[in-house]
Amino acid sequence: MTHSSGPSAKSEISFAVNGETRTVRAYQMERLLDVLRHQLQLTGAKEGCGEGECGSCAVLMDGMLVNSCLVPVLQAQGSNIVTIEGVAAEGSLHVLQQTFLECGGAQCGICTPGMILASAHLLNQKPEPTIEEIREGLSGNLCRCTGYSQIIEAVAEAARRRTTA
Ligand code: FES
Ligand code: FES
Repeated sequence: MTHSSGPSAKSEISFAVNGETRTVRAYQMERLLDVLRHQLQLTGAKEGCGEGECGSCAVLMDGMLVNSCLVPVLQAQGSNIVTIEGVAAEGSLHVLQQTFLECGGAQCGICTPGMILASAHLLNQKPEPTIEEIREGLSGNLCRCTGYSQIIEAVAEAARRRTTA
């Protein structure tokens, strides 16, 4: 439920993050990225470009991949958000976290949370993607370190493990 006296005042905005309902007081146009990082201390989503170009701030909102630097927090009202902190079951790594580690898909790590969420979204849509489909699925996520081939291999390996599990 939203309680507010207009866009220039702070509102109470509620949404679920990683399965837990959270209520924040924020300006309606505040960026979801800032609310996640500064109010909820979920610092996995990173700010790269701040303009919707790099994907380092990506989260899942109602199952859709969104760049949280472009989402006004008001838009998150009532939604179900998953951040990198919520992808794994407690005490274990998500298969993509494991394969990124094993394949060298993470170096400085700035792009990694967004890459993993974009990859998880891709594998939900296409459990057995081709290399081209992986490239396409990650085309909104930029990496300055890896040259992409280890990332693509990590996603392909995760797909193999999931389909043969
Ligand atoms: S920081 Fe959001 S897309 Fe780059
Ligand atoms: S690992 Fe450094 S930007 Fe991707």
